[in-house]
Amino acid sequence: MSFISRVREDLSAARDHDPAARSNTEIAVVYSGLHAIWAYRLAHRLWLKGGAFQFPARAISQFARALTGIEIHPGATIGRRFFIDHGMGVVIGETTEIGDDVMLYQGVTLGGQSLAKGKRHPTLGDRVTVGAGAKVLGAITIGSDSAVGSNAVVVRDAPENSILTGVPARDRRRKPEEHEPAVDPAEYIDPAMWI
Ligand SMILES: CC(C)(COP(=O)(O)OP(=O)(O)OC[C@H]1O[C@@H](n2cnc3c(N)ncnc32)[C@H](O)[C@@H]1OP(=O)(O)O)[C@@H](O)C(=O)NCCC(=O)NCCS
Repeated sequence: MSFISRVREDLSAARDHDPAARSNTEIAVVYSGLHAIWAYRLAHRLWLKGGAFQFPARAISQFARALTGIEIHPGATIGRRFFIDHGMGVVIGETTEIGDDVMLYQGVTLGGQSLAKGKRHPTLGDRVTVGAGAKVLGAITIGSDSAVGSNAVVVRDAPENSILTGVPARDRRRKPEEHEPAVDPAEYIDPAMWI
């Protein structure tokens, strides 16, 4: 995927996730979450080259942190359509792995719990949302389609579709009736017909 296509996709993800988002130009200029993600993408490419490239990768990451208040280690692995809303105070550690369509709010830490080298940061599945101020700590896995509540502290693995709240976070599992009902094509009414 070309750099331009990826930028377009990021802008569209920002529009999808933030009802306050207006034009692409405005989003590209004022959304620090996107600036941090674009800096991360550049830094990550350098990081993967290894050796002497890792110093400039860290330098870009720290420069982006100074500008945006968002610290993403260039070694982290992050999927497509990632979005950080508001952003200030977000920290994403070196061995974090993030799936596609993940969204973080301000003050989120995806951090380690030990000083040991190797995998020590969380893995988030696809379509996970992490609320403001939440901490997800250690080499744990949060399953796809889960939500971490604001200010939760998550220190254990969680299966898909979890809703994690509190300190330490507990899984308030989604009841079947809380899932979005599948639309029966026979009953679907196109809203455009009322326009
Ligand atoms: C955790 C969360 C995903 C749950 O959403 P939901 O499934 O719609 O849950 P509800 O709002 O119906 O609340 C369900 C229960 O969880 C409780 N709850 C909701 N969020 C909570 C939180 N962050 N911490 C502790 N309890 C929480 C509610 O009080 C309610 O408890 P009750 O059943 O005893 O009444 C959501 O509340 C949340 O925290 N989202 C993050 C939003 C955010 O960070 N916004 C920042 C914008 S700048």
